[in-house]
Amino acid sequence: MNKKTIRDVPVAGKRVFVRVDFNVPLEGGEVRDDTRIVAALPTIRYLLDQKARVILASHLGRPKGKVAPEFSLRPVAKRLGELLGMDVAFAADCVGPEAEAAVAALKPGEVLMLENLRFHAEEEANDPEFSRKLAALADLYVNDAFGTAHRAHASTAGMAAYLPAVAGFLMEKEIDYLGRALEDPKRPFVAILGGAKISDKIGVIKNLLGKVDRLLIGGGMANTFLKAQGYDVAASLVEEDSVAVAKELLAQGEGKILLPTDVVVADAFAADAQAKVVPVGQVPAGWRILDIGPQTVKAFSDALRGAKTVVWNGPMGVFEFPRFAEGTFAIAHVLAKLPKAITIIGGGDSAAAVEQAGVAGKMSHVSTGGGASLEFLEGRTLPGVAVLADR
Ligand code: 3PG
Repeated sequence: MNKKTIRDVPVAGKRVFVRVDFNVPLEGGEVRDDTRIVAALPTIRYLLDQKARVILASHLGRPKGKVAPEFSLRPVAKRLGELLGMDVAFAADCVGPEAEAAVAALKPGEVLMLENLRFHAEEEANDPEFSRKLAALADLYVNDAFGTAHRAHASTAGMAAYLPAVAGFLMEKEIDYLGRALEDPKRPFVAILGGAKISDKIGVIKNLLGKVDRLLIGGGMANTFLKAQGYDVAASLVEEDSVAVAKELLAQGEGKILLPTDVVVADAFAADAQAKVVPVGQVPAGWRILDIGPQTVKAFSDALRGAKTVVWNGPMGVFEFPRFAEGTFAIAHVLAKLPKAITIIGGGDSAAAVEQAGVAGKMSHVSTGGGASLEFLEGRTLPGVAVLADR
């Protein structure tokens, strides 16, 4: 990564504002999944060891610019305190007298968490005055919120106009893994794309086709490609508007794109639906495709054999229903066993899939950003990265 990080600037005794992505699922007032908090610990621990005064800020959910207690970051601060084994101070607002007093009370080597940035509409509006107020709390701005780096908000981009701005270690790791895969991959480079919608992934496919050796496509989005190839996919999810672009992509990616040849079909979209495996041309009327079939798993596994770089974004089927999770989990296990490959998992559903398959720890990198990793794979510049100081 060609951006400066916290290693490149003095931090001792400084008030360091760290934008983290602690947008985590809560349940009954507790953090249900702390992956994103754990992922930010190296940055927080380094700053604390260096005796910085650490001010953490994040959004949680989409409270639409209003205070909403169910989106409070208090439970997150509590979980962070347990993980760090120390007190985490909390300010009930991210700007104004309360935040200012909490920052003033902060000693070197102590940490403070500010309340949800999105309780202020100015955050998402990237309001310059709000950015200036946030920046006034600190001497240095650190962006470690890779998961929110695709948003040009006050705390993810605007603040950099008022403070020296550098990356944290999570941001650095994410950009290094994803960036190296796109710019200088060890070959063969194989990408696996899935998920429900092809319209979300057109930009990614276009960008990846010029870089990968093979592109394996499964999940709901494969249906539109199958339709473009002339197959009758019966009641399967198809984006009619994208059939033409799917045809173009197939022509462009000839010899590179691999699609399912058999599929698991269901008579309803339900966990307990009747299910069977059929060749792609034989989906019964009224039935829908909910997973890739065993022959496809075999073909995808063969295409992955010997791969040196693998990027995976999007499940192969409706893995929330156990009956239709086999394709996704099988691919997760294939990746876990690739001996010499760098395996990179896009965030969101794919991260959940490798976690549920029990092989997340076997991957080289599981991204903490869903939307952010997709935009990165599209080849777009992320606003939260662009504003950071160059090396
Ligand atoms: C995410 O969970 O993808 C990020 O935290 C961004 O959240 P947002 O989509 O509400 O901006």
